[in-house]
Amino acid sequence: MILVLTGAPGAGKGTQADLLADRLSFRKVSTGDALRRHIKSGSRIGKEAEAIMARGELVPDDVLFRILKDELGTNSNDRVLLDGYPRNVSQANTLSSLNDVHPVIGAIHLDVDENELLGRLSGRRVCGSCGASFHVTANPPTKSGVCDRCGGSLIQRPDDEMASVKVRLSVYDKNTKPVLDFYKGRSLYHRVAGLGTTEEVFDRLKRTVEGLMPAGRGQ
Ligand code: AP5
Ligand code: MG
Repeated sequence: MILVLTGAPGAGKGTQADLLADRLSFRKVSTGDALRRHIKSGSRIGKEAEAIMARGELVPDDVLFRILKDELGTNSNDRVLLDGYPRNVSQANTLSSLNDVHPVIGAIHLDVDENELLGRLSGRRVCGSCGASFHVTANPPTKSGVCDRCGGSLIQRPDDEMASVKVRLSVYDKNTKPVLDFYKGRSLYHRVAGLGTTEEVFDRLKRTVEGLMPAGRGQ
């Protein structure tokens, strides 16, 4: 089964998906992380995606479908938290077509206003080695510029430059917001307020997630 975690760039999807994976035994699948791994390894997909991602645009649906199938696998007992997919209605339909093996039991919208998003994205720093994410004020590393998890160097994501951020926010408005209506129409939509500390947001999310779990699969 799949829980979709959706929201604007910088809403905190990755941060919360990591916490939910650690604390509630989900497997996190992030299409953004998978694409960044492809770029790092220099694969054909990575070469195709790199410039598109740096501009803040969406990578083509057929590429994402291949990534999605690889990442999801075939185990229908998996509890997957899906971060970054679907990004448009066509991808939402594609995901529905996998319902026999990977049914979507809810789509949680982490809702954050635009001013806060800009602050989160401009202050984000990520580890160039392991991908861990920090924020210069809200979640600083113990030693400035150094990853707490692996000791790697912290960098700014290329798509966190202001020009790309503007494109990503407008792509979200145009392409991804209709996905919220897609799930509302199927009674799968749940909004969670994304403002507050990471722990406050996590507590709200946890309550929503626990309410969605089929009986006997809460942990
Ligand atoms: P992706 O990696 O998915 O990026 P995104 O959706 O733009 O989201 P972000 O990762 O920027 O934000 P987030 O919500 O994960 O926030 P985070 O937790 O890091 O996609 C990147 C690109 O890949 C796309 O633009 C596209 O090109 C391509 N792509 C991916 N999927 C695709 C698809 N399905 N189809 C086509 N193309 C696709 O938090 C942000 C910052 O805020 C961090 O610094 C964090 O520390 C901080 N923070 C988190 N929570 C809080 C809090 N509560 N208070 C204060 N600060 C906080
Ligand atoms: Mg993310």
